[in-house]
Amino acid sequence: MDEKQQVVKALQPALPDLTVEELTAKVERPKDNKNGDYAFPTFFLAKTMHKAPQAIAQELVEKIDDAGFEKVVVAGPYINFFLDKASVGAEILKAILADPENYGSKDLGHGGNVTIDYSSPNIAKPMSMGHLRSTMIGESIGRILEKENYKVIRIDYLGDWGTQFGKLMAAYKMWGNEEEVKKDPINTLLKYYVRINNEADEHPEYTEAGRDWFAKLEHGDEEAWQLWKWFREISLERFQRVYDMLDVHFDSFHGEAFSAQKMDEPIQLLKDKGLLKPSRGAQIVDLDAYNLVPPLIIKSNGTTTYITRDLATALFRKRMYGHVKSLYVVGAEQENYYKQLKAVLKEMGFTWWDQLEHISFGLMTLNGKKMSTRKGNVVSLEDVLNDSVKLAREQITQKNPNLKNPDEVAKMVGVGAVIFHDLKNERTNGVNFNLDEVVKFEGETGPYVQYARARAMSILRKEGMPSFDGADLTLTGAEAWPILKRLGQFGEAIERAANNYDPSLVGKYALALAKDFNQYYAHTRILVDDEGKQARLALVQAVAHVLKQALAMLGVKAPDEM
Ligand code: ARG
Repeated sequence: MDEKQQVVKALQPALPDLTVEELTAKVERPKDNKNGDYAFPTFFLAKTMHKAPQAIAQELVEKIDDAGFEKVVVAGPYINFFLDKASVGAEILKAILADPENYGSKDLGHGGNVTIDYSSPNIAKPMSMGHLRSTMIGESIGRILEKENYKVIRIDYLGDWGTQFGKLMAAYKMWGNEEEVKKDPINTLLKYYVRINNEADEHPEYTEAGRDWFAKLEHGDEEAWQLWKWFREISLERFQRVYDMLDVHFDSFHGEAFSAQKMDEPIQLLKDKGLLKPSRGAQIVDLDAYNLVPPLIIKSNGTTTYITRDLATALFRKRMYGHVKSLYVVGAEQENYYKQLKAVLKEMGFTWWDQLEHISFGLMTLNGKKMSTRKGNVVSLEDVLNDSVKLAREQITQKNPNLKNPDEVAKMVGVGAVIFHDLKNERTNGVNFNLDEVVKFEGETGPYVQYARARAMSILRKEGMPSFDGADLTLTGAEAWPILKRLGQFGEAIERAANNYDPSLVGKYALALAKDFNQYYAHTRILVDDEGKQARLALVQAVAHVLKQALAMLGVKAPDEM
């Protein structure tokens, strides 16, 4: 039970007519802690009880069950609750130690299915730093929702269809060389693609050739099909290396090509509902009523578009997974696109159109500069992760030359640092990336949190990893209270992160707890032999558990030693 629920429980005998939800909604956290840890305002009862709020507070306080509180007092139109810190703290520690993995999780999801469409890179292009955002925000949301008892289906909707593959095929047919591609698949394909784009202005026939190749692909031409399959395979192989480093595992790689085979149903439905309107030889859906640009459904040459594929995808997912939510983790620049997609589904008569949610995020810049694939100015995510691991390895060699498994730890720290940096800011904000900042052991970094936990673990190791069965977990003294209070708020942090689909709320929580712990560590003699020692060690253990769980929800590993 969290602290707020304890307040609600205390209020129930005084206000039996109000539900738990109603009471919970009214309980506040006073800004100034001289007004207690929680407060209950009585203004809203004045009407029904025909009394002044002050008088109501006086009357109610008599009936409150004050067990577990240091005191419960009236202050004007408020009832202020002062927690009995010692017993509240002991309860929190007990709950964490009893079940560290489930501590803080509630059952918001009731086992409902949520599909998360994330990462979703386009094939034949390298995964750039830009893809890290979608990949890790999506993965982390998945982990947070699983904590809240949602069933998560992870989907990598590969961008493996569209006119650009026609272009790539045309380029490959002109300049391609199988040996060269095999040596460095994605970069070589990218090179061809950049070249045909650069030269297309002077050679309009290149654009023409690209269009022809895509038409061939759409009509099942054998050579086009074989090339496409090959491009896809070698791309996915490379992507998989990055996913393995990030420990991200998808349930499905059905991408645009898969949906391109399922066009008939959405197109027929659009026709039946009279939603398709001709426009300059093409077919569109009018979204004037939504103040949206009309999306192009079928092009003048008969080929389908990105949104048509997404309509088929949406129908397929609803049928296949029966989701209660369907999330799309895609950059903010596609905001209007998702409005269009939802509006078309709504027009088609699907009541579940609003289960779709665009989980938007801000742009990642690199050392202050924007990245662009088309201009060939990309930084490969794999390279950045490898560099980060190298940097972490150097720092570990300096800090802890005797570490037993330095390479393994360097991987956890280096990769974790990059992920943490990506996730610690509110997801809708942009992120600037600078490797040296990211791998620091001080400041608001992943390594800082990992290090705090490793420090906790080293204390516990010194004591032979104590067990706390039947131990008295009562902590006296004020130093422990900020940590205990923070530990008690873990569930709230998870809940807010789940409701807002925002991993940064967990990231900020982890930073705050690590900071609290470092403070405590600096000012308290944890291992001194007195009657409080067991409880202090239990606190250290609880911090280690919760930091590990918080990091895990971000997809960051927690080394026991570093
Ligand atoms: N491949 C797209 C891109 O790189 C993202 C796909 C997002 N998912 C979707 N169902 N449209 O921008």
